[in-house]
Amino acid sequence: MAHGGTARVGMIGGGQLARMTFQAAIPLDLSLQILAARPDDSAARVAATVSVGAPDSLEDLRAFAKGCDVVTFDHELVEPAHLEALVADGHCLRPAPASMRFAQDKHYQRACFEALGLPVPASRVVSAADDLLKFGEEHGWPVVAKVVRGGYDGRGVWILEAPEEAAELVGAATKMELLAEQWVRIRRELAILVARRPGGEAVVYPVVETVQRDGICHEIVAPAPVEDATAAAAAGLARRIADTVEACGILAVEFFLDEDGRLLVNELATRPHNSGHYSIEGCLTSQFQNHLRAVVDWPLGDPALVAAAAATANVLATTAGDPAMRMREALGVPGVHVHLYGKEARPGRKLGHVTALGDEPDDALERAKRAAAILAG
Ligand SMILES: Nc1ncnc2c1ncn2[C@@H]1O[C@H](COP(=O)(O)OP(=O)(O)OP(=O)(O)O)[C@@H](O)[C@H]1O
Ligand SMILES: [Mg+2]
Repeated sequence: MAHGGTARVGMIGGGQLARMTFQAAIPLDLSLQILAARPDDSAARVAATVSVGAPDSLEDLRAFAKGCDVVTFDHELVEPAHLEALVADGHCLRPAPASMRFAQDKHYQRACFEALGLPVPASRVVSAADDLLKFGEEHGWPVVAKVVRGGYDGRGVWILEAPEEAAELVGAATKMELLAEQWVRIRRELAILVARRPGGEAVVYPVVETVQRDGICHEIVAPAPVEDATAAAAAGLARRIADTVEACGILAVEFFLDEDGRLLVNELATRPHNSGHYSIEGCLTSQFQNHLRAVVDWPLGDPALVAAAAATANVLATTAGDPAMRMREALGVPGVHVHLYGKEARPGRKLGHVTALGDEPDDALERAKRAAAILAG
C-alpha cells in the first residue's frame, strides 16, 4: 500500500464524523483523505487531504476512490448503484454496499429483521392516505410515518396523532416512499456501538441512553441506567445484528425500551455515530479509532469505560453567534471536554458536543449540559 507502507483511507463525506475520524487517524499515522461536498465542511477545514466533490456524482466518487486503498463513509447518503459501481471498478468499500443498505433503507431493514425474528416495531410501506388510515385502525393511533430513505435528525419522521393528520401528510409528501410504523410507548432510548473487522472479530461498547427532544439527540449517558439483563440483551442483539449485516467498522444500533421493558430495534448506522462521541474521552478506545482499525483490518482496541460514568451533551445553536466566543466561559465548568465542529451557527444546528466523566452519571451530565448550554448561546 502507498503512503509509508500504511493504508490511504478515503472517507466520503466531510462532516463532524469525518473531522473526528481525522483526529483519530493521526496517532495511527493513517492518511485519511476526505471527499467533502463543500470546502468549508467541518472536516474539510482541518484535514490534510481534501477533495471537493458531490457524493451523488459517480464521476466524483470514482476520481476520489482512485487515490484510496479503502473507502469508508461519514454518512449513508450515497446512491446504492454508485457504491456497486465502485466495487465493480475494484475498489475496497468498508462497509460494503450490502451492509449499508440496512441503514439506507428502513423498509429493507425492518423486513429482514422481522424475517430473522429480531424484535422490531410493526411497520408497513404505505403509498396512499387510505393505507395509513388502515394501518392506524389495525395498530391504533398515534401512527409514526417515516421516509424509507434519507431521513436524519428526526427530519423525515412524523408522529400522526389522528387520521386527519395522515391525510395531510400523504398529500404533502406524495413523492416520498413512506413507512407506517406502530407508535411505541418509549421508556428509554438506548444505543450500542459495535466495531467489527472484515473477518468477524468484534468488540461491543457499553449500552448508552440517548435522550431525544423533537427527534434530535440532545444527551447521551453511559452506561445507560438499565438493569444488567436489559444491557446484556441489548449487547447480544447488537452483536448478532453486526454479524447479520456483516458490518465493517462501527455499527450503531438504536433501540427503544418500551413501557413493558421490551427492547425493540429502531434503526442502524453503519459508521461512527452521534451516540458514541462520549467514547473519545470515556472509553479506552474511541469509536473513531476503532472504526479506522476495523476498516484497515487491524486489531481492535478495548471499548471499556475509563470512568464510572460518561455523559455527552450536544451543542445545538440557539443563536447565530460563534460558539467559540463563549469557549472561555464553557471551559470554566470543571472537567468538561469541548468539541466544536467548525460549523457556522444557525439556530437549531448541531455545532459541537461536550463530554464529562464522573463517579455519578447525573453529575457528569449536569456539567456537560451546563457547558453545552453556554456554547449554544
Ligand atoms: N415507532 C416509534 N414510536 C415512538 N417514537 C418514535 C418511533 N420512531 C421514531 N420515534 C422517535 O423519533 C426519533 C427519530 O426517529 P428515527 O431514529 O427513526 O429517525 P432518524 O431521523 O433517522 O434518526 P437519527 O436522528 O438517529 O438520524 C426517535 O429517536 C424517537 O424518539
Ligand atoms: Mg435515529
